[in-house]
Amino acid sequence: MALPRLRTVVLVSGAALLTRRALKRRIARSPLWPLPALPEPVSGHSKRRATAVRKLLITGRTEVAEGVVRLRLEGPGLPPWSPGAHLDLVLPSGLVRQYSLCGDPADTGAYTVATRLVADGRGGSREVHEQLQEGLEVEVRGPRNRFPLTGAPGYVFVVGGIGITPVLPMLRALAASGAEWRLLYGGRSRASMPFLEEIEKLGADGDRVTVVAQDEAGHPDVAGALANLAPGTAVYCCGPEPLMAAATAALPEGCTLHLERFSAATGGTAGSDGGSEGSEAFEVELRRSGRTVPVAAGQSVLAAVRAELPHVAYSCEQGFCGTCQQRVLEGEIDHRDELLTEDERGDSMLICVSRCRGGRLVLDL
Ligand code: FES
Repeated sequence: MALPRLRTVVLVSGAALLTRRALKRRIARSPLWPLPALPEPVSGHSKRRATAVRKLLITGRTEVAEGVVRLRLEGPGLPPWSPGAHLDLVLPSGLVRQYSLCGDPADTGAYTVATRLVADGRGGSREVHEQLQEGLEVEVRGPRNRFPLTGAPGYVFVVGGIGITPVLPMLRALAASGAEWRLLYGGRSRASMPFLEEIEKLGADGDRVTVVAQDEAGHPDVAGALANLAPGTAVYCCGPEPLMAAATAALPEGCTLHLERFSAATGGTAGSDGGSEGSEAFEVELRRSGRTVPVAAGQSVLAAVRAELPHVAYSCEQGFCGTCQQRVLEGEIDHRDELLTEDERGDSMLICVSRCRGGRLVLDL
């Protein structure tokens, strides 16, 4: 009895080995090869983790300032996050919008975001305010962090309005650690500025917080706040574009500047429709999909790619949110954003605004 069983085992093992070898040869000949060997995708984050969509339950909805609602989103097994991170909210209409996490990273059962209603915006904030009610579910992706708190001997924050959301968890962390920090916080009026009470408490042990309400005192003095900073000070700025421009212009030598944009930079290269326009047409090969798409002169790579692959993620279409970042396998990129780091520019692009310097790009899609 033992001999036939042994023969069966040998035969099955041999067949499995031959099948495995044949499959390996077939994969190696495939035009998609070396797909399994590609390194981790963009931004150093796991693609599965960064792009996985999860449904969270809205368990809290509070108006925390005039025109600003805070949402608490609960769910099991949430990935951890650090101050400065944001979440993609996939709204009921399909719009995707980024909102900074403003809760406590130690609260592992929920994410908290806050959003201001922009009456003349592109519709995302209106949808959040009008449709995202307690008891409903919302889809999210992320979190991701493009605005992390780095090590520095001291910190200065220059913030306008809802720009306080990514900064608030940073202030809590710095206050708890006894680090040296100051905040210049501007807004239209005190009533419109979220989290004011908590922030003033955090800065109560010194002259750390300066609040400038426009209806009382005009615009904040950004140049004054950044004058005479010690070398190595990290300056963090989040708010309207003029505030960011003022911080950039006033940055003292030897200090570092960290910007978080909620809108495209003034004078950016994105087209007026939010897409990227250029005089040259080119083609884009989608290596994983085995397809090639033409990109017309007046068309963005994103638009051309979505005609073939409608699931490809995007949000701002203006080159500041990073949602559409894709790995480039071949071709010379014409970068037209101000978001990616030099490192990221080596092998990836924001396909909503950036283009091609030659006739052909190959994307890892
Ligand atoms: S969609 Fe926001 S950077 Fe491209």
